[in-house]
Amino acid sequence: MKDEFEIFPYVRERRLRSSKGMRDLVAETSLAPSSLMLPMFIIPGKGRTQKIESMPDVTRQTPDIAANAVGRALNLGVKSFLLFGIPDVKDEMGTGAYDENGVIPDAIKHIKNEYPEAVVAADVCMCGYTSHGHCGIIKNGRVDNDLTLPVLARTAVAYAGAGADIVAPSSMMDGQVRAIREALDDGGLKDAAIMSYSSKFASSLYGPFREAADSKPAFGDRKTYQMDYRNGRQAIREIELDVSEGADIVMVKPAMFYLDLISQAKARFNLPIAAYSVSGEYSMIKSAYMNGWINENDVMMELIYSIKRAGADIIITYYAEKIAGILK
Ligand code: PBG
Ligand code: ZN
Repeated sequence: MKDEFEIFPYVRERRLRSSKGMRDLVAETSLAPSSLMLPMFIIPGKGRTQKIESMPDVTRQTPDIAANAVGRALNLGVKSFLLFGIPDVKDEMGTGAYDENGVIPDAIKHIKNEYPEAVVAADVCMCGYTSHGHCGIIKNGRVDNDLTLPVLARTAVAYAGAGADIVAPSSMMDGQVRAIREALDDGGLKDAAIMSYSSKFASSLYGPFREAADSKPAFGDRKTYQMDYRNGRQAIREIELDVSEGADIVMVKPAMFYLDLISQAKARFNLPIAAYSVSGEYSMIKSAYMNGWINENDVMMELIYSIKRAGADIIITYYAEKIAGILK
């Protein structure tokens, strides 16, 4: 039993909620535009944008248009960008991923040329470049881990060589961080950082992204490489392994249904924790708003603050600019 002075009517928690100023004074969580990273879909060519049916207000852009968008985001205080390439042609081996004249190296150069201060990250995976849409090289009908590693490494070197500050392997191959770190170091790219999609779940929330990136697997699913959502301890193990392989930043993905893992990762690892609020999170909010059922800005802010409160240092979100606008 608590002392009588520690309970009602002496204790009234509502005192600290009595005004906006009082609430701001005691707010435990704060959010800065500089911790938001904006994902961007890049198509080859010049002067073109395309709508994405499943993600209203998000577009695919050519490198020149993407560079303009980066300029606008920088003005709002968003300083980092995560690039996904959508090549014109795909093949069985995903060779377009590491083409030094491909869509991503082109976009990196455009952006860095105009805005050297922008922090540019490039997603490193095969699914956008393979004709079968899987995240690795197929052998005997399965995604082969060890055959995929050199391709990922070569891709990371191509992007870092073009000027990317960060490479972000997302294919969930075992050993991908180590393979990439070794290749970067051998290639004289010691300063390129690795943000690993360490605990990436086989989630149904990636649907809108796969339409945007045209990366739906042609057969099967991604459950032999992405994680089972019933496993939390295994997610911590995945992060641990990536840290030991040399990751500079680790990620939990998706964010929304995985806040428990963000907070565990924050408590256990002393390096930046990123959380990816994925396409399905975006499209669920957007579509409910478009139906008149929820307030988009309010739900968006509540989601992003919950991810921050859980412990994310970096939040990757399609809403980055909209949030930054509100914070301003
Ligand atoms: C590719 C990749 C995916 C996402 C990021 N990188 C999709 C997938 O694994 O199918 C999803 C991002 C999102 O849904 O916003 N490996
Ligand atoms: Zn992939």
